[in-house]
Amino acid sequence: MSELLLDAQDLARHYTVSRGLFRPKATVKALAGVSFTLAAKKTLAVVGESGCGKSTLARQLTLIEPPTRGSLKIDGTDAASADKATLKRLRQRVQMVFQNPFASLNPRKTVATTLAEPLLINAPLSAAERKERVEALAAKVGLRPEHLRRYPHMFSGGQRQRIAIARAMILNPGIVVADEPVSALDVSIQAQILNLFMDLQDEFGTGYVFISHNLSVVEHVADEVMVMYLGAAVEIGEKKRLFAAPLHPYTRALMSATPALRKADRRERIVIHGELPSPLQPPSGCTFHKRCPLAVPRCIAEVPQLREVDGRRVACHVV
Ligand SMILES: Nc1ncnc2c1ncn2[C@@H]1O[C@H](COP(=O)(O)OP(=O)(O)OP(=O)(O)O)[C@@H](O)[C@H]1O
Ligand SMILES: [Mg+2]
Repeated sequence: MSELLLDAQDLARHYTVSRGLFRPKATVKALAGVSFTLAAKKTLAVVGESGCGKSTLARQLTLIEPPTRGSLKIDGTDAASADKATLKRLRQRVQMVFQNPFASLNPRKTVATTLAEPLLINAPLSAAERKERVEALAAKVGLRPEHLRRYPHMFSGGQRQRIAIARAMILNPGIVVADEPVSALDVSIQAQILNLFMDLQDEFGTGYVFISHNLSVVEHVADEVMVMYLGAAVEIGEKKRLFAAPLHPYTRALMSATPALRKADRRERIVIHGELPSPLQPPSGCTFHKRCPLAVPRCIAEVPQLREVDGRRVACHVV
């Protein structure tokens, strides 16, 4: 078995969208081809503006929909060529935690039922063993025994997210994809939930793909960071390196726009001008060139490929 939990190569997802009765259909390259790996006990954070393809990536990793191009290996097994039984096993290996814990839990089921269900379907356990497993995990995520008999509406957002995390972890999945899991929560609760993620990772060795637009959150949880812009990775590397010295002009702009992060080293503020281009008509060359303070003619003509610079990969002609 491979050491890697996830190995994505040139993973892409395009959507065909209708633009009205009399216009030809168009293609949105929601995910334009990203490559990365994830090892056990590690967290890859994915950051980028709204619409850059983060949730589309999550849907590929959780096998909710097939990629248009590229390959995804889970535990070394290629998902595209897997048979039905293997796919079922791979799907269990990758669980998802969503942004909105109000929408992601079934209001008609008690916490106990919600947590026991995956075990009932997928694990050969007796009722007593199931109960024990549910109670043990509930305790680990900070729920009290009496909570198990209650329904989702009786909980706060933070507690609901604890339940959603427990449900994702109940089959010990190995990989959890969390799509903005704290952005709907009060700021005062966010740190508790982030710490819970990290405690569970320590205990179970889970690998996380952690999607967030909040760089303070990313700095807290990530080992590696992938910065995305219009469906593509513009910079990917170790968190410490990226935060200490971001190279891509887009990464630098994102970071300089988060004042709390940068108070200490007074990095000059880089302002991104203009709006996010339409993914239906992305700019030529480097898709960031229209907003980039460093753009040169080559950036309009030629798509920059990721290359190794200063211990990370960056897709920029200029740095
Ligand atoms: N099923 C779909 N059909 C057509 N276009 C889609 C579909 N899903 C996503 N898109 C488009 O793909 C692009 C990426 O969307 P995605 O939801 O992955 O972005 P995101 O980074 O998760 O954004 P946000 O931060 O707002 O959640 C967007 O332009 C979106 O409109
Ligand atoms: Mg999203």
